[in-house]
Amino acid sequence: MKKYMSAEFAALKNKEHLTILAIESSCDETAISVVLDGRTVLSNIVSSQIEIHRRFGGVVPEIASRNHLMAISNLYDEALKEAKIKPEDIDAIAVTYGAGLMGALLVGVNFAKGLSYALQKPLIAVNHVHGHIASNYISHPDLQPPFLCLMVSGGHTALLKISDYNKFKLLGSTVDDAAGEAFDKVARVLGLPYPGGPEIDKLAKEGKNNIKFTVSNSLKDTLNFSFSGIKTAVINYVHKLEQRGEEICTADVARSFEESVTDELSEKAIRAMKMTNQNKIVIAGGVGANSMLQAKLAKKCKECGAKLYAPVLKYCTDNAAMIGSAAYYYIRKGMGLADLGLTAMPNIDL
Ligand code: KG4
Ligand code: ZN
Repeated sequence: MKKYMSAEFAALKNKEHLTILAIESSCDETAISVVLDGRTVLSNIVSSQIEIHRRFGGVVPEIASRNHLMAISNLYDEALKEAKIKPEDIDAIAVTYGAGLMGALLVGVNFAKGLSYALQKPLIAVNHVHGHIASNYISHPDLQPPFLCLMVSGGHTALLKISDYNKFKLLGSTVDDAAGEAFDKVARVLGLPYPGGPEIDKLAKEGKNNIKFTVSNSLKDTLNFSFSGIKTAVINYVHKLEQRGEEICTADVARSFEESVTDELSEKAIRAMKMTNQNKIVIAGGVGANSMLQAKLAKKCKECGAKLYAPVLKYCTDNAAMIGSAAYYYIRKGMGLADLGLTAMPNIDL
């Protein structure tokens, strides 16, 4: 492949409009999207494998890779068709290269490399978490840095100060389970299908009594999180009742668990916002769809005169439009250019 010259990349950086074709395959969603100028979604095609993995109670990595492989080529055709563009209209190919499941990421990365080679378009390597943050640029055309971000997904839980596009400072993160991971594991023990987060969200609305499950307070003076203790407490509670043959009110368990986790997330987010002198909080990642979390943060933000931004549901969970948006801001800053040596990175820093 012609190595993309830095002069050409510099020209791209200054081009008035950028049409980016973006690919996401880090977990169990195969997604391709065409995004114009980082904020306008021309197409957003998502093929979800949730139904396939549900029977196993969670994502099976090998099955995820195979299904990405089967879906990706058709999604590309669909994404171009829906966006009403031709391959030559694409300015750059963006792809999630990490974090995520190795085999799943490789499908997207290799497809993107093939396209980049065939179309002679630059390849942009995008960090999945940056994509989740950028999903808010799509949902909120007025949103600009600086802001405080609460990143809550199946793989990450963190508080970040976003002082500019692509300028991230990690203020705190989970020391064990990510919030989504805890939701999914608690849901599983309650007999709810995968993914458990939305199921707990629904069931918790029927809960009436509070069972005392508390988040560990050993990190109370920090901006870090720990959710493995509360997850274990819920699992032990359920097992104990099962052993005694007593009935379990799953709605009460779901509600009590969700109350504690969302208290912890919302309180620390507000504290971080105040500590960093921000007046905007942006929620990112799949757990950001949680109704109790959104309601608590909305109330707390109102009380302290801050503005809350959450992505619309379809951009909250994994999608490729958010990857296209993040890539746009990479290119504008002259970042992210990759070549055919790009490989998938299951673990990368925020
Ligand atoms: O961001 P995402 O789609 O994928 C990752 O990058 O991990 O997040 C998936 C996570 C899952 O753990 C799922 O259970 C959780 O987001 N989730 C929710 C809700 N919707 C999705 N958790 C709580 N409440 C929800 N409404
Ligand atoms: Zn994600």
